[in-house]
Amino acid sequence: MVTHHACVRIADFALERYFARWEFNARFVLCASDVEGYPMAELLELADDETGELWDGLRLGYTVSTGHPLLRREIASLYDSIDPAEVLTFAGAEEAVFCLMNVLVGPGDHAIVTWPGYQSLYEVARANGAAVTLHELRESSGWALDIELLRRQLTPATRLIVVNLPHNPTGMLADRETFDRLIEVAEEAGAHLLVDEVYRGLEFDPSRRLPAGADSASRGISLGVMSKSFALAGLRVGWLATHDRELLDRLARFKDYTTICSSAPSEILAIIALRARERVLARSRAIVAANLERLDGFFEDWADRFSWVRPVAGSIGFPRLTVPGVRIDEWAAELVESEGVLLLPGSQFGHPGNHFRIGLGRTDLPRALDQLEAFARRTLR
Ligand SMILES: Cc1ncc(COP(=O)(O)O)c(C=O)c1O
Repeated sequence: MVTHHACVRIADFALERYFARWEFNARFVLCASDVEGYPMAELLELADDETGELWDGLRLGYTVSTGHPLLRREIASLYDSIDPAEVLTFAGAEEAVFCLMNVLVGPGDHAIVTWPGYQSLYEVARANGAAVTLHELRESSGWALDIELLRRQLTPATRLIVVNLPHNPTGMLADRETFDRLIEVAEEAGAHLLVDEVYRGLEFDPSRRLPAGADSASRGISLGVMSKSFALAGLRVGWLATHDRELLDRLARFKDYTTICSSAPSEILAIIALRARERVLARSRAIVAANLERLDGFFEDWADRFSWVRPVAGSIGFPRLTVPGVRIDEWAAELVESEGVLLLPGSQFGHPGNHFRIGLGRTDLPRALDQLEAFARRTLR
């Protein structure tokens, strides 16, 4: 029997195509969202007796498809109420998003997704035939979630609400009251709530850390990864955590068609890092804090050329070039050609403002900013 199923070809991931062109060709990647990669040798020094033995005795066979039991245990301990059986690992956050959207939404379903944002959070749902409403964040309101707007965006078909907190690209973090109202809206709608928390742990004021999505809503799903706060993007280890075990089961079945199981060395290295999480996170926070101070100085000096809604968490911000007649796309293209400094124009998020993403996670930021400033003196004064 031949069966036919209509499908939509997925749109290009604009940001990833831009990075494919530039990331390893520009001298300074001043728009990266990850934190400076943790050196392998230093990470191995953090191993305890058990993980040291796991590493030394590692055999490079297939691994447990749901994730190494010790890895799931470490991940579960990042949450208040999550059992290791309520965690499923993936190859990065990206695979987790892809699998989740495939099992959760399809034709006839509706999803609401914050925007501007990480494109796969809405593009994969669209490609699966779901109707997607973008929940627009605005610079004029500090990029805050608008809960009343969110309520109005709900339809009887809304199956999924997606937020990203702390937020890429703006560095926004909802306050606790807004977060609680978001949970209420998701509960009332009976929808799943995906909270992309890949920058969690990088709150500049630790008292502002929000509860995890998986701990907060009955259909809450937390998305985590080793790439950002934990500075280990090269591991390609991410996960979903949720009390919805039926959903996890469907995800596991879908993952059989993508990666099947995680990379064996990466799992052990992730366990090592998660067991030493305070140290690993402290390093990331120190890098970001030093860079933020440097950026604050820059944006103060250049307040008449750039607007800067200071991020409150994460490793990125989304300033705007305010010089009349100067388009960020052209300015950024000249900047990378002449100084080797890469910015990410807002157009890569489909955003029409004159914004660009700036990354706070790389240790070469001071040098990159010096180059940018020299270029700005030549071109914006
Ligand atoms: C908000 C957000 N979600 C998910 C991802 C995907 O993470 P990874 O590349 O580690 O799979 C990213 C990466 O930039 C991101 O910024």
